[in-house]
Amino acid sequence: MHQIKQINALQAYRAELRGTVGFVPTMGALHAGHLSLIEVALNENDHVLVSIFVNPTQFDQSSDLENYPNQLAEDLRQLEKIGVTAVFTPDYAALYPDNYNYQIIEKELSQRFCGAHRAGHFDGVLSVVIKLLNLTVSDKAYFGEKDYQQLQLIKGMVAAFFIPCEIVACPIIREPDGLAMSSRNVRLSAVERKIAPELYATLINQDSLADKTSHLNDIGFEVDYLEQLDDRLLIAARLGQVRLIDNVPISAGARS
Ligand code: PAF
Repeated sequence: MHQIKQINALQAYRAELRGTVGFVPTMGALHAGHLSLIEVALNENDHVLVSIFVNPTQFDQSSDLENYPNQLAEDLRQLEKIGVTAVFTPDYAALYPDNYNYQIIEKELSQRFCGAHRAGHFDGVLSVVIKLLNLTVSDKAYFGEKDYQQLQLIKGMVAAFFIPCEIVACPIIREPDGLAMSSRNVRLSAVERKIAPELYATLINQDSLADKTSHLNDIGFEVDYLEQLDDRLLIAARLGQVRLIDNVPISAGARS
């Protein structure tokens, strides 16, 4: 597996690749959710590129960025083992030669749900994803449905800017107790980790939205929002220092 850090090295490497290229962007701290995206990409493409870059422009709180888990050596070992062609690990200066003076801003959906609670978050996500799609020139790029709002915004951006890349949505991967896999889960204390699966259990029960919210708030969550988007019910809630998000199809039992 090649590890590439510089932009020109990635462009030169990409120019030599023949056949289809699948791309999986990540912020590292890889878990079974990421690996499931990579498995799909490996099945559907001749080559798979993965990026690992903890993108500072999408963090609205410096403490969240500072505490974001970093396990690069272990991530690289896992990627090599499953057959990834190359991993792109740029630093901020390489990926942001403009120092974020140029930004992609979506003006509607990005302002709601997570966007209403995390100022500038989706500007950072869209700006880094368009850079990565332009650099990897991938036929398909893979994103998890756990970040459902992000997925919709990326699909919208790709359509708006005529980017010739198919965005493939992959299902949420859950722990056996129902908690959606997330790199942030490792930051839950032992007590919080026991409470955390209630987020999903509450999403899929038959209670009204108001009852779901008050139940979660009663057991220690601080619900940011619980709302419908398309045919899904989306939630974000804080448990101690950790912000968790999840979503389910409305048909999973949720009542609006
Ligand atoms: O979903 C993520 O991990 C990030 O938002 C992404 C798409 C890698 C952009 O930094």
